[in-house]
Amino acid sequence: MQIFGVDIGGSGIKGAPVDLDRGELTEERFKVLTPHPATPDAVADGVRDVVAHFDWTGPVGITFPGVVTGEATIRTAANVDKDWIDTDARALLSGRLGGLPVTVLNDADAAGVAEMQFGAGRDHQGTVILLTFGTGIGSALFIDGTLVPNTELGHLELGGHEAEKRASTKAKDDHELTWEHWARRVTKYLAHLEMLFSPELFIIGGGVSRKSEKFLPLIEDIKAEIVPAQLQNNAGIVGAAMRAAKAS
Ligand code: BGC
Repeated sequence: MQIFGVDIGGSGIKGAPVDLDRGELTEERFKVLTPHPATPDAVADGVRDVVAHFDWTGPVGITFPGVVTGEATIRTAANVDKDWIDTDARALLSGRLGGLPVTVLNDADAAGVAEMQFGAGRDHQGTVILLTFGTGIGSALFIDGTLVPNTELGHLELGGHEAEKRASTKAKDDHELTWEHWARRVTKYLAHLEMLFSPELFIIGGGVSRKSEKFLPLIEDIKAEIVPAQLQNNAGIVGAAMRAAKAS
């Protein structure tokens, strides 16, 4: 079975059809730049362009980088335009896609769902936390394989600062931090999460998971196992499609 997945991120909107039996993209993904300001209308146009690139006419799963409750009401918008707050994202995006059935979920939750099924979290019981490091920090918390949605652990306060302002890869780039310096910040963040949740496993996702050899060896004194995500930057697309398949 194939379903289309779209991942709305801080820098790009990317999508592809997904083979749900294998958790893999069936074609090379297509990406447009996230518009700035990332207003609902401008982002919806980007989603339309990505889906139209494949002439797709079936169900579409879409991630959003903020809290998504109920059917698809957006509750927060830390790294996109604040006009998203209280938007009915399903109505907006389905309308822009000519009425295709649309499912919307948080981007990190989508990545987590995909990693638990097809990637680094496969067959893991107990408490598992997936973190995506990018423009912000996203989180997905699983208890015995069940997702606790919208955990938003990137906004925890750490040493008087919001964690994602200190330890996202955007913070690394903006402040030109070395891998060592950034890894120290990530270590403090993981230690804090470990104090709160005692997970058995941390999965490190986002674009930076491709460079895990640069920073995972620098992270010390964390009891949980720490592994890079395996679906890397496609996890959001795959997880979005998985959720849409469940809903259709
Ligand atoms: C948002 C989260 C999102 C994360 C990664 C955070 O700023 O609040 O909802 O998952 O960024 O995009």
